[in-house]
Amino acid sequence: MSDILTIADLKDLARRRVPKMFFDYADSGAWTESTYRANEEDFQKIKFRQRVLVDMSNRSLESTMVGQKVSMPVALAPTGLTGMQHADGEMLAAQAAEEFGVPFTLSTMSICSIEDVASVTKKPFWFQLYVLRDKDFVLSLIDRAKAAKCSALVLTLDLQVLGQRHKDVRNGLSAPPKMTLANIANIAVRPGWWMGMAGTKRRTFRNIVGHAKGVGDVASLSSWTTEQFDPQLSWKDVAWIKERWGGKLILKGILDKEDALMAAKTGADAIIVSNHGGRQLDGASSSIMVLEEIADAVGDQIEVHMDGGIRSGQDVLKALCLGAKGTYIGRPFLYGLGALGKEGVTKALEIIRKEMDITLALCGKRLVTDMGKEQLRRYVRDI
Ligand SMILES: Cc1cc2nc3c(=O)[nH]c(=O)nc-3n(C[C@H](O)[C@H](O)[C@H](O)COP(=O)(O)O)c2cc1C
Repeated sequence: MSDILTIADLKDLARRRVPKMFFDYADSGAWTESTYRANEEDFQKIKFRQRVLVDMSNRSLESTMVGQKVSMPVALAPTGLTGMQHADGEMLAAQAAEEFGVPFTLSTMSICSIEDVASVTKKPFWFQLYVLRDKDFVLSLIDRAKAAKCSALVLTLDLQVLGQRHKDVRNGLSAPPKMTLANIANIAVRPGWWMGMAGTKRRTFRNIVGHAKGVGDVASLSSWTTEQFDPQLSWKDVAWIKERWGGKLILKGILDKEDALMAAKTGADAIIVSNHGGRQLDGASSSIMVLEEIADAVGDQIEVHMDGGIRSGQDVLKALCLGAKGTYIGRPFLYGLGALGKEGVTKALEIIRKEMDITLALCGKRLVTDMGKEQLRRYVRDI
């Protein structure tokens, strides 16, 4: 553990411990992956102003996201199939987040169910909703999240159709993996992974199987998911979902100022500036590139969050400087989970916390909530 100093170290270890099909599922973007790469690369274009001889004692990373106290403004993003990176992955990641004092967001497409995660956590977690054609099932998901006392609903808007990730097609991605010769050979040399999987009953989409009509087993699920994402989702749907849910609502997947203005009118509590980690529209802007413009347009009407490409505490601070009140990490915690299970998720959060703390000090600030544009030497706007 002591030689793991960066998120990239966790990624290297995860590559060795997680079967290729699932490691690739995390480490991939749509088509040419240009937006996936830009999410990370564009952070490097932004430079801090270094300050000296100011009191740097008693620093704090505490903040709030949608009114909830967080030990640092970094939530775990919703990610599908997380229980395939490591056995019971969603339950372990939720526990790590709870102990760390940051929100965990459970995906609709998770392996462990809402009820599984609720059974191993004490504090409320967040639930991410995909709007599917089967509206009865969507309503039942909302009700199950309420019953589990989830404290925010994250409604994903940018997946009405599925972007293609070539690696998933080539690898024949499925959960659980099909027992082809290539998969068996790949899994056999990752004993920690398969022993964990052998020891759990959670190996398929447990929010769905047994809950949605006509999905009694795994075989019918793959056809069900391709048919189920709703291409007709509209702003009107946000209204009934908001009403049924009745709690904090976060709209995820905004990348354009016009959409941000529409989102602000819905009365939702926050938006997430996001391109789904570069997994949907290849060729779209990086999230950090459009953040400032969106925050300037709607920041006084709705809380602005962002995700995409955060690989360090420095990246988190840059996002805060450009107008985000909160951020999310997807792959960094998945790599931690694949590398070392629950401890790996904690490690990912610790790495980011340490980097944030030292960077805050070297920028001459004591409170993370004081970081603003004036702490940046140069920052980028979308053109
Ligand atoms: C493997 C993987 C699965 C994902 N699954 C979902 C999902 O089920 N629902 C969702 O809203 N976003 C999903 N996302 C997008 C993340 O919530 C988030 O927007 C993205 O990971 C942020 O970028 P980062 O991975 O660079 O931090 C997924 C991302 C990854 C990497």
